[in-house]
Amino acid sequence: MTAPDHKPAARLAHVRPSMILGLVQKARQLASEGHPVIELGIGEPDFTTPDHIKQAAIEAIERDETRYTIVPGTVPMREAIAAKLKRENDLDCDLADITVGGGCKSIIFNAMMATVSPGDEVIIPAPYWSSYPDIVAMAEGVPVVVDCPQSQRFLISPAQLAKAITPHTRWLVLNSPSNPTGGVYSAEHLERLAKVLRAHPHVAILSDDIYEHLMFNGHRFASILNVAPDLKDRVLIVNGVSKVFAMTGWRLGYAAGPSQIIKQMNVVQGQSLTHACSISQAAGIAALSGPTGFLATRSASFQKRRDIVVDALNVAQGISCIRPEGAFYVYPDCSGVIGKMTPAGRVITSDIEFCTHLLEDHYVSAVPGAAFGLSPHLRISTAASEENLREACARIAAACADLKEAS
Ligand SMILES: Cc1ncc(COP(=O)(O)O)c(C=O)c1O
Repeated sequence: MTAPDHKPAARLAHVRPSMILGLVQKARQLASEGHPVIELGIGEPDFTTPDHIKQAAIEAIERDETRYTIVPGTVPMREAIAAKLKRENDLDCDLADITVGGGCKSIIFNAMMATVSPGDEVIIPAPYWSSYPDIVAMAEGVPVVVDCPQSQRFLISPAQLAKAITPHTRWLVLNSPSNPTGGVYSAEHLERLAKVLRAHPHVAILSDDIYEHLMFNGHRFASILNVAPDLKDRVLIVNGVSKVFAMTGWRLGYAAGPSQIIKQMNVVQGQSLTHACSISQAAGIAALSGPTGFLATRSASFQKRRDIVVDALNVAQGISCIRPEGAFYVYPDCSGVIGKMTPAGRVITSDIEFCTHLLEDHYVSAVPGAAFGLSPHLRISTAASEENLREACARIAAACADLKEAS
């Protein structure tokens, strides 16, 4: 008998390791060596979990809510989600239409594993949250990436959607406000997409609403179900508490949609995670049922920081940046620096090279657009102090100013 060669499973062939985590590791290493690194790569809010939510978790521990819960999530957790969906989104959902998982990522994973068969296509507008195509690939589906450049505010147009749909299309993924662009689909835009979708009844829609409450300048969040309630039998809403309630570490997400899909997702979860952490579910009830006044203050703070970054980057040579309407990211175009040479003689051939230069020579950590399927761009998280954001943008502008034409 020979020793096992530990080769990866065939289903991992098209799954990429996270570029973001690699960069974060590098940034932390430079910081630990004493370099003044400013970290703008991470996708999590810099606020803390509100006290009333923490308190609910402490009380759940004290009540010994420390045993297995049922797979789809506790009844009070799902009741809180149903009430939230009614109150905030005007959606009626039975408890059987709701499942709770270990984060929105885990929920999306369950949805794809439960519904995608080998060869099924999933339409993903790019730039995209980097896990979508990899989760689809793990489910042995085919990610169909549609480029949505800055000139169209990074949003898929109805014509692009119509062109991308084939008889093999299983899902369209929509994410608004978006990671990595902060782009927001208006109700009118969603109505036009719904019109295309009505002509293709075999296509289901995954609406990732995780940045729902992080909206700027009075923009109102709209979901495709609000404008097209007739699509209810094929829309899966996914959401979670990570971003809006600053609860990334609690690992709590949920989905609401057709009970058939939810049932299949519960089969996947029942044989993997089992259920979301019981204590996190107790905290989640407090998050979804408790006071929400602090959300406006937090959004206003992100809006102010967005403006600081957009204004500062638009004066940097070679960078151009639109003003996002939500989330806590800015996604500047850096095509003006491609082909230029650094003072050390390195030619910037891609956004990956540019981010490497920014990190290694200017100690600013941003994520290259390549991680999100649309280059040349960088994603800057605005979840940092105003002082650090100003300093980071000044360093980026200085880095751009120092670039020379490559001979
Ligand atoms: C668009 C989007 N969806 C889902 C997630 C996953 O969130 P969670 O922490 O709930 O798994 C993220 C996290 O970065 C995200 O940006």
